[in-house]
Amino acid sequence: MDSNTTVIAPEQLREQQAFCGRIRALWEKRGRVPTAFVDTYGCQQNEADSERIRGMLEACGYTMQADAEGADLVVINTCAVREHAEQRVLGNVGALVHTKRRHPDQRIFLCGCMMGQPQVAEKIRKSYVHVDGVFSTHHLWELPSLLYRVLTGGKRVFATADEPGSIAEGLPVVRSSAFKAWVSVMYGCNNFCSYCIVPYVRGRERSRRPEDVIAEVRQLAEGGCRDITLLGQNVNSYGHDLGLGVDFADLLAELAQIPGDFLLRFMTSHPKDATEKLFDTMAASPKIARHIHLPFQAGNDRVLQAMNRRYTAEQYLALVDYARSVMPDLVLTSDVIVGFPGETDEEFADTLRLVERARCDALFTFLYSPREGTPAARMPDPFTREEKLRRFDRLCALQNRISEEKHAACVGRRLRVLVDGREDGVLTGRTNGNRLVRLTGGDDGWIGRYAEAEITGASTWSLTGRL
Ligand code: SAH
Ligand code: SF4
Ligand code: F3S
Repeated sequence: MDSNTTVIAPEQLREQQAFCGRIRALWEKRGRVPTAFVDTYGCQQNEADSERIRGMLEACGYTMQADAEGADLVVINTCAVREHAEQRVLGNVGALVHTKRRHPDQRIFLCGCMMGQPQVAEKIRKSYVHVDGVFSTHHLWELPSLLYRVLTGGKRVFATADEPGSIAEGLPVVRSSAFKAWVSVMYGCNNFCSYCIVPYVRGRERSRRPEDVIAEVRQLAEGGCRDITLLGQNVNSYGHDLGLGVDFADLLAELAQIPGDFLLRFMTSHPKDATEKLFDTMAASPKIARHIHLPFQAGNDRVLQAMNRRYTAEQYLALVDYARSVMPDLVLTSDVIVGFPGETDEEFADTLRLVERARCDALFTFLYSPREGTPAARMPDPFTREEKLRRFDRLCALQNRISEEKHAACVGRRLRVLVDGREDGVLTGRTNGNRLVRLTGGDDGWIGRYAEAEITGASTWSLTGRL
């Protein structure tokens, strides 16, 4: 491997396992089974990390519970992508003062992307003294030793040293679903979009070895998993750091050969790295879902350049045209940022035009949020929040109309859905393209199974169907 990626050595992981044993012994001596609550904010990447955190905690003898009240350990996995996300986290961490007062032995850990920002870690150190431990994403695998130190030393621990990033293979995992799974194929990001904090808190891109990913997917498929989402901030640059001549399309093609009745999904794709080869690979395999999340962020070329996105609106549309030419039933979703510093009304009108032309099935729209340390946070931003909110509303109204039209076109079709749960009393399922279907005419026995649904109705956000 000609890469700079460090894979955590097996003996280091064995050392962590030994700490799990010591923690179990500690609780056995206290004569009871400890409980833990793991709370997750942010994206699927964090959800996947939390499954590892739960895995390590179970190895330490903890059983999981669904809230912080009375838990012996609370771990909050945080997100730093927008200010709103950070405020929610800090609000909830503040409230833990009270739960800890009612249960003084409670230990509280904060981890995840917020903890990768030195100024945040410092704020926790100074102003949130009820927090016992902090670790950034780079130190996740060290949780057992950090927890042991807190339980035995009585001192707070801070594992936030900035590191180039590494990969820990083989951590224990407790998956939150038996039939849907996340599989990280790479970590970190090299793109430094000018508004984004992620590269600063998650380090440089590093890909897992193909054989490790294949083994994990094979194991999931053998266990009956039906829906597997490959994760990375920019999966299309998978493998570039490995120097093995294997790119993301190659990896996908390989994974699609694994036997089993499952669908492969992936996110996120960066338009600058999405290739025709990727779309051809998708088109060639019924095992790869007909869905791509391909964020364009803005429709104006000056703004795109200021965002450091490295494509133009025309290039984005050409990519989408190609993808649809090989997969006419492709479901396309995207992220858009409204109110990037200095974005004028005319420039925003280009975003509306791109939305009209790309006709995505759904958009995730965000109001720009300045992130300390990113280049965009230092750019002049003359427009008021009210002006930005007005644009935001126009964008949502436009996309809602398009989403409704697209959903209405599904009515009368029979679609295969994976029944995945119950929401407000009704069964829910996901189509191949990841559309949400609210289902009538079935019972809980269907959960985790594929079914045919006749689509009977449509709204902006979902379809309705009869099993
Ligand atoms: N790696 C993924 C997504 C990362 S964050 C990608 O490149 O698409 C998810 C989304 O949050 C981004 O696509 C972007 O639309 C939004 N986002 C990121 N930073 C933001 C910021 N500072 N303000 C508002 N939205 C932001
Ligand atoms: Fe952030 Fe851009 Fe990397 Fe996505 S590709 S995580 S938006 S820097
Ligand atoms: Fe948030 Fe970190 Fe994901 S900042 S969006 S949890 S990569």
